[in-house]
Amino acid sequence: MTELERQLARFNRLELLSAPTPLEKLERLSAWAGRAIYVKRDDLTPLAFGGNKLRKLEYLAADALAKGADTLITAGAIQSNHVRQTAALAARLGMGCVALLENPIGTDSASYLGNGNRLLLDLFGAKVELVDNLDNADEQLQSLAVRLHASGRKPYRVPIGGSNALGALGYVRAALELATQIKHSGETFAGVVLASGSAGTHSGLALGLASVLPHLPVIGVTVSRTDEAQRPKVQGLAERTAELLGVRLPERFKVTLWDEYFAPRYGEPNPGTLAAIRELASHEGLLLDPVYTGKAMAGLLDGITRQRFDAGPLIFLHTGGAPALFAYPEVWNA
Ligand SMILES: Cc1ncc(COP(=O)(O)O)c(C=O)c1O
Repeated sequence: MTELERQLARFNRLELLSAPTPLEKLERLSAWAGRAIYVKRDDLTPLAFGGNKLRKLEYLAADALAKGADTLITAGAIQSNHVRQTAALAARLGMGCVALLENPIGTDSASYLGNGNRLLLDLFGAKVELVDNLDNADEQLQSLAVRLHASGRKPYRVPIGGSNALGALGYVRAALELATQIKHSGETFAGVVLASGSAGTHSGLALGLASVLPHLPVIGVTVSRTDEAQRPKVQGLAERTAELLGVRLPERFKVTLWDEYFAPRYGEPNPGTLAAIRELASHEGLLLDPVYTGKAMAGLLDGITRQRFDAGPLIFLHTGGAPALFAYPEVWNA
């Protein structure tokens, strides 16, 4: 056992993932792109259409239960995958769920407002409060918690995206899981590409991989921010995660961000996003999403074309999100 594994084992975790998610080669896409591309299937985590948040929630919900909470509260966009997975887990655990939701693209599309992830929140029995924005999400969640306390509930605050140090442990653990799969594959990979949003996935994965596979580049494709704005979020969360674990940030830890693929803004796909979604669907029958993984895959494919990677096969971390496809039917006819 490495020091990192020993430290990770100190934390309570609900065992929601009973097995590693698959690492698969995308044969037809690889032939089309002229480069071997593998996908780490975190879109297949086993709850409510899957996705990356379940790994964070293994730690966050364990903490909530240990603290005697009866309600998970969180926040996100109306089409948030994070809120969907949190609400589903609350249902599974017999807890309540209350979510603050914003409309980050100011749309009045009936599909965005009522289909996709939003439709599922009602099925899970989550309570939803619409807010003008989530500019002060931590304080907004704190005042929601105060209100719920006053009405006799025991709320537990799950931050936006599940991205605090405790949640990021889920991706430190995922890094160790992926490193084992990489070793078994016998390949020397040139990089791992993922979407970088609220940063917990990126920070945890980069921290974990830097300690066990220090020469493997980790590239975060931003979905909402410039490199300059995203960098301190990833770096700061990695530092807090290392501190929580009681380890040093590994010497080889490095934040690499590509910010050319998120325009025009969070929650709005661009032509490259849609092209990437089509390529994966038509070559592999694999569904990406218009907000996160479509943008990250656009970065990976463009990175191959522009020779931004060293030689060797690539890994795409598929973080889920496909339910949001049903919230954006109009983008395909534009
Ligand atoms: C499908 C999908 N991919 C990637 C991300 C980004 O993960 P993080 O917020 O940890 O950066 C999210 C976050 O909501 C997501 O829903």
